Amino acid sequence: VFANVVRAPEDPILGVTVAYNKDPSPKKLNLGVGAYRTEEGKPLVLNVVRRAEQMLVNDTSRVKEYLPIVGLAEFNKLSAKLIFGVDSPAIQENRVTTVQCLSGTGSLRVGAEFLARHYHEHTIYIPQPTWGNHPKVFTIAGLSVKTYRYYSPETRGLDFQGLLDDLNAAPSGAIVLLHACAHNPTGVDPTPEQWEQIRQLMRSKGLLPFFDSAYQGFASGSLDEDAQSVRMFVSDGGECLVAQSYAKNMGMYGERVGALSIVCKSADVAVRVESQLKLVIRPMYSNPPIHGASIVAAILKDSHMYHEWTVELKAMADRIISMRQKLFDALQARGTPGDWSHIIKQIGMFTFTGLNAQQVAFMTKEYHIYMTSDGRISMAGLSSQTVPLLADAIHAAVST
Ligand code: LMR
Repeated sequence: VFANVVRAPEDPILGVTVAYNKDPSPKKLNLGVGAYRTEEGKPLVLNVVRRAEQMLVNDTSRVKEYLPIVGLAEFNKLSAKLIFGVDSPAIQENRVTTVQCLSGTGSLRVGAEFLARHYHEHTIYIPQPTWGNHPKVFTIAGLSVKTYRYYSPETRGLDFQGLLDDLNAAPSGAIVLLHACAHNPTGVDPTPEQWEQIRQLMRSKGLLPFFDSAYQGFASGSLDEDAQSVRMFVSDGGECLVAQSYAKNMGMYGERVGALSIVCKSADVAVRVESQLKLVIRPMYSNPPIHGASIVAAILKDSHMYHEWTVELKAMADRIISMRQKLFDALQARGTPGDWSHIIKQIGMFTFTGLNAQQVAFMTKEYHIYMTSDGRISMAGLSSQTVPLLADAIHAAVST
């Protein structure tokens, strides 16, 4: 009965890891998926995460009952505080509903399903380019996806005028996906002044912001700084949605821990919105897993562990920033043709190199370096030892 099933292509990002795993070369380097690696090229479990996990394991009073449909209440409260700020009026006024979801993707999907059922406008504008999974998540939830200009290949920076023009031309009420910080894949963010202009335009047109916050603390090293864009939109009293992920900032990738928050106009609306979110979640996966969220909650609620987390987080962010400088210096030293200053200007996990699909294919074939075909490299996957190899490969790719 399945004889006519067509073989689907691999995922453009996760498929890079599939190809990497098949490569027998000892030199191979995976700069595809955004996953942090140490200087030794190893995945990192934060010390504070290990400690929190150990504490939970030692506590024999803990059971493995089902969580409520909306997840762990304590985790939800702490997650809202983390993104909106401890003294957020929206939280104090009980206008925020937060539900635990399966990391960033699951939060986006639940939010999108809710909007498709309960929001009058079904068009969502996403930046061009954006994370490859965004259009799929929104389309499958029943939203209609359009793009707004974001990145200028000429300047390798923000196409701010294009962004404003496209949002200005969007129908009133349309949903707009915004990357809270460290835009994926470009590493290009608006300045605070530009964010303020975006906010004013969106509020004046009644556009609904849906933030994807996958890198809080990971871009600048400061949890507050990386939440500024979101907080700007919340402090004006208007509505918004936020999808939060703990994959990167706590290194909890495989635990799938995240949260969806919907900021409403009143406490009464928030209660009704939450009741409908439960109807979205229950037939999808019933209720979320308990383990990862318990670890996150343990860290967020304990001031010592929280502090330890911020130190480890900053160390990851700083290592990535230092990789940017090292790669830039290595290309300068080789006299690689072109202007590579965008490597140090862009922020977050990725550099959008400007290399084209052919150049990427060349680097994979000749140098066993794996990256997405749009020329995005995960700076978090680089180390001092592998920078020269990458610089050699880029130099050869642009010189041939
Ligand atoms: C990425 O963009 O590499 C990450 O967000 C991982 C993923 O799921 O694609």
